[in-house]
Amino acid sequence: GSAATHIQRNPAYSELNSDDVSYFKTILGNNGVVQDEDRIAVANVDWMGKYRGASQLLLLPKSTVEVSKILSYCNTRRLAVVPQGGNTGLVGGSVPVYDEVIISLAGMDKIISFDNVNGILTCEAGCVLENLSTFVEKEGFIMPLDLGAKGSCHIGGNISTNAGGLRFIRYGSLHGNVLGLEVVLADGTVLDMLTTLRKDNTGYDLKHLFIGSEGSLGVVTKISVLTPAKLPSTNVAFLSCNDYTSCQKLLLAARRNLGEILSAFEFMDHNCIDLAMRHLEGVQNPLPASQSKFYVLIETTGSDESYDKTKLEAFLLSSMENGLVADGVIAQDISQASNFWRIREGISEASVKVGAVYKYDLSIPVEKLYDIVEEMRCRLGNNAEVLGYGHLGDGNLHLNILSSKYDDNTLAQIEPFVYEWTSAQRGSISAEHGLGLMKAEKIHYSKAPEAVQLMASIKKLLDSNSILNPYKVLPQSVL
Ligand code: FAD
Ligand code: MLT
Ligand code: ZN
Repeated sequence: GSAATHIQRNPAYSELNSDDVSYFKTILGNNGVVQDEDRIAVANVDWMGKYRGASQLLLLPKSTVEVSKILSYCNTRRLAVVPQGGNTGLVGGSVPVYDEVIISLAGMDKIISFDNVNGILTCEAGCVLENLSTFVEKEGFIMPLDLGAKGSCHIGGNISTNAGGLRFIRYGSLHGNVLGLEVVLADGTVLDMLTTLRKDNTGYDLKHLFIGSEGSLGVVTKISVLTPAKLPSTNVAFLSCNDYTSCQKLLLAARRNLGEILSAFEFMDHNCIDLAMRHLEGVQNPLPASQSKFYVLIETTGSDESYDKTKLEAFLLSSMENGLVADGVIAQDISQASNFWRIREGISEASVKVGAVYKYDLSIPVEKLYDIVEEMRCRLGNNAEVLGYGHLGDGNLHLNILSSKYDDNTLAQIEPFVYEWTSAQRGSISAEHGLGLMKAEKIHYSKAPEAVQLMASIKKLLDSNSILNPYKVLPQSVL
């Protein structure tokens, strides 16, 4: 692959042969068994163009029964597999490392039911997040999560990565919003946990094992999720702050003064704005005259249009008077609001246009969160461009280091320093993207050895031949 892994192919796995392909055709039909080189090439490479596998087979099941038959066969034959959703993952988890069979959930994209009294959506794992949003919005509800990859990512991928995103500050984690799951285990067993109850304390809540397990414990096939009511009034402000301390104080002030209507608090440094202006087409700088180093996007969502707007305007005015905000603007219409969001959501897209991007997704106590960005700039000097942005309201920094190409010298200046630094702050080396291939061997920076051992025991219990997403999530040494 282009971001080379130093892990060897595990010889315990069989190599695919023509009998295997014939068998898959008997269960999936010819259309469900993809060997076309172009289509396989797309599925072998991740969104950043950083991780590249060498799979020769992509399977497209249409039902849980088909997923079950595939896994049962692969388990008996010791064929390794990688579950794939929208392939927007950022840690190399969604693509094969060697010749693993790719199981794409793209063919399982049906909405099963929507309870429009309680706001509970039940659907298949391959539904694209944006399609689900459009669907529930017509019913007067919204999805509890939103992210820049919404047009491609699947709800099953979101659950498997426990994706955070832009609404986390308001609606919290998928561990709270997912009510039920259907999962197929490595041996083909279908685990029906597809309840739609809000409360259910009958024994261990097994669905949580699969939320965030990145395809290493089972294939998620169906989901039921709680959707909040869609509220009529949304406002978005784009603000600048002269120093990082002001951003922190502004967050606290927003929590106090905007209270229940606060629905996003996103942070970007000047380098991000600069990058977005260089690489994203059709976006306008909301504060073109600003000399500030830091920018914040604040969104409010509530039920009373005039009250909400007055509240946000008063907050902005007082924050300018007390000096926390240097400059700011409230979107006057939908197109201005979407321009503000386009800048924030477009940072990842802009960053991959530079060439190579080293991405770190860290949870760090808010007081210390920007220190690592500045330390990294000192370490790297002119060798790379360092960006800091993220979900400040959740204590989640995205530290991105941009360079024209991936090389070992740059990497050696970044790692293990960034992991050691984060660990010393008792932070997390993966706030929301997961471990994937990129950080499987780094888990100890954020988890105690006893916890990693227990994870390995669970993995062995559920996937005794280790066919599911090999080389990912857990270090090879514990398996
Ligand atoms: P994939 O990338 O296909 O897979 C991700 C992992 O889940 C892999 O390990 C895969 O094996 C596994 N998997 C996928 N589907 C299943 C399934 N049905 N059963 C079992 N395992 C499965 N992430 C955030 O958390 N917050 C953000 O704000 C955010 N913004 C993003 C913005 C952009 C522009 C991009 C490109 C990515 C962003 N991401 C973000 C990362 C990514 O979109 C999320 O991790 C997303 O949840 C992945 O969904 P997917 O369907 O693309 O999964
Ligand atoms: C974001 O918040 O924009 C994402 O998690 C994507 C990224 O870090 O590239
Ligand atoms: Zn993010």
